[in-house]
Amino acid sequence: MKLFLDTASVAEIRTMWETGILDGVTTNPTLVAKEGRRFEEVLREICALGVPSVSAEVVATTAEAMVGEGRHLRGLHPAIYVKVPMTPAGLRATKVLAAEGTRVNMTLVFSATQALLAAKVGATYVSPFIGRLDDQSQVGMDLIRDIVQIYRNYRFATQVLVASIRHPIHVLEAAKIGADIATMPYGVMEKLAQHPLTDLGLARFLKDWEKVPKA
Ligand code: G3P
Repeated sequence: MKLFLDTASVAEIRTMWETGILDGVTTNPTLVAKEGRRFEEVLREICALGVPSVSAEVVATTAEAMVGEGRHLRGLHPAIYVKVPMTPAGLRATKVLAAEGTRVNMTLVFSATQALLAAKVGATYVSPFIGRLDDQSQVGMDLIRDIVQIYRNYRFATQVLVASIRHPIHVLEAAKIGADIATMPYGVMEKLAQHPLTDLGLARFLKDWEKVPKA
């Protein structure tokens, strides 16, 4: 399973990139706005770190304008994946961009039928938002199970990128289902490595090591 950071903070990405566990980055307009920096400058810095997959979202709403924006974003760096919203215009734009060889991440996906359509127009990634479904009293993980099954049934190549992850159990459940990618905030990724027994065990080992005769 690939692990992505869902952030536009270059500092966060650099820290996780150096650990060697990071496979990619997803951004969205809200995350970019939080940084208070120019979008393309942020994208260039992320790509310069060597991150192989960096999702950058279009903000146009017509198919033609999405295609134009998508081509521009893709041209910024070979690691860029163009994020396109799941709308009728987004489907049309994805079909054009995918046919040209642009890797598209279809975003704002909340149903399995939307995910089916994303695969049919050639999206490389589909991004179902599970946390936002949980917030509406709908079990987000059920959607992941459905999409993974549908894609397996028809051998679609589109990869399931689980988004809107809120805690490590979301990552664990997505991995058990067999989702391809999980994108998460920095704090969630940090928690994947943590366990109090690891900390306690290490403290004990170091304390006991003091009793070992040295030389
Ligand atoms: O990047 C898309 C998605 O991960 C957003 O998550 O927490 O705003 O629902 P959230």
